[in-house]
Amino acid sequence: MPVLWYVVQAAYIAVAILFILGLKAMSSPVTAKRGIMWAGVGMVVAVLVTFLYPSTSGPSTGWPVLFHADKVLNLVLILVAIGLGGGTAWWLGKVVKMTDMPQMVAVYNGMGGGAAALIAAVEFARGEVHTTIVAILAVLGSLIGAVAFSGSVIAFAKLQGIMKKAHRLPAQNLVNIVVALVAVVLGVVIVALAGNPDFAVLWAILLIVFFVVAAALGVIVTSPIGGADMPVVISLLNAFTGLAVGFEGYVLGNPALIIAGIVVGASGTLLTQLMAKAMNRPITNVIFTPITGEAVGGSIEGTMKETTAMDAAAAMRYAEKVIVCPGYGMAVAGAQHKVWELTKLLEEVGTEVKFAIHPVAGRMPGHMNVLLAEAGVPYDMSFDLDEINDEFPTADVALVIGANDTVNPVARTDKSSPIYGMPILDADKAQQCIVIKRGQGTGYSGVQNALFFAENTNMLYGSAQQAVADIITALKTLM
Ligand code: TAP
Repeated sequence: MPVLWYVVQAAYIAVAILFILGLKAMSSPVTAKRGIMWAGVGMVVAVLVTFLYPSTSGPSTGWPVLFHADKVLNLVLILVAIGLGGGTAWWLGKVVKMTDMPQMVAVYNGMGGGAAALIAAVEFARGEVHTTIVAILAVLGSLIGAVAFSGSVIAFAKLQGIMKKAHRLPAQNLVNIVVALVAVVLGVVIVALAGNPDFAVLWAILLIVFFVVAAALGVIVTSPIGGADMPVVISLLNAFTGLAVGFEGYVLGNPALIIAGIVVGASGTLLTQLMAKAMNRPITNVIFTPITGEAVGGSIEGTMKETTAMDAAAAMRYAEKVIVCPGYGMAVAGAQHKVWELTKLLEEVGTEVKFAIHPVAGRMPGHMNVLLAEAGVPYDMSFDLDEINDEFPTADVALVIGANDTVNPVARTDKSSPIYGMPILDADKAQQCIVIKRGQGTGYSGVQNALFFAENTNMLYGSAQQAVADIITALKTLM
């Protein structure tokens, strides 16, 4: 049935279009939901079409390989795997908190990378790697996939708090380079000996050693990296996984894997660059000179001045313009709904309210946009750093809610600070700054925040949700 072959190819093109349109739609909060649906439909089509894949690679009369009588067990196993994997992902998607999303992405990455490496291992074991180019891509895919797998496991352990310390080896960078070189050399030998019956046993041993070394590389590169850089690392590993999947798609001759791999690889690379730029941390620094989370920077003069919910409410009640700077603390406290309630009250009394969104506020790209949109804040009230920074001097109050590094002026002034050069929200330039946080702790990077000690800053201590609720109660008495 030649028609089947053409149907499968046409379906893969449709899948590619759905993935690309989906990604495009995800770039705006207004269309993001639709984008996720499109990409999801693309994925379902890709999986279904793989079942129809004919038994030969060109137009043929063969039945789909999975429907051959001797493959029924495979079909059953695949369906069970899809049920288990899909069911677990569905359940996790429902129960995992927004603040824990980076861990979840790390798990997904790891699965993708590990799957790519396993595909290569199985193809080698079946003797299905026939040409040098396929062997090179299989080895590259398995190297990158194994690194992405083990690196993601470490990233997950760190973000989940299971692995609390950054482990640095003596001469860490040299060790990284040597282990990477060993893996590459092993890969070259494996390609050179592939298919040679005289070296079959040696070749099999080298293949196993190769996978172990590649997995070890992922562990030793990721272990010294501190929590502050972890989301960037996950994004980088995500790009790696895409690349590995793309290579293995070529090995299997499966266009859907090639397309999905390239799309993930390219978008992951762009996202990594974007995050690195927003933190002013070149990727080489993330890998070779990581922030360990133990840095404190120089000492800062002055004291933190405490304020009350009533004083904060009064300052905003009589302000013409308030700019809210949300951060990770607002997310963990789940305070976004209270923040929106406060915003509506302020608008009722004629105060203009805007939201300033730093590109790396929270723990993942778009974290704040998603939370605020979920609480009902209209998209046109949220502004990116570049759009809003010039407005801070005209704001009567900057209300910082659980944000720290993203509003730390040290990034502008202290060349010795690990966050020096990171673009920040200019909350310190507002007439008055009110900061809501639980205590005097530092931000994610471990750097002390000069904003909290500034003359025009007052601290409202408490968990964000309760603190904003207290401001609302006080504000109501002033209306
Ligand atoms: P952070 O610097 O992480 O600071 C969050 C602050 O929230 C902390 O100082 C903490 O102080 C406070 N907090 C914690 N729980 C709270 C609660 N329940 N109520 C009120 N406050 C609470 O936040 P940020 O400004 O959003 O910066 C994000 C950081 O993540 C940056 O360092 C950024 O580079 C890093 N990062 C982000 C990304 C992405 S893509 N978003 C990627 C890589 C790295 P207390 O403990 O005193 O309450």
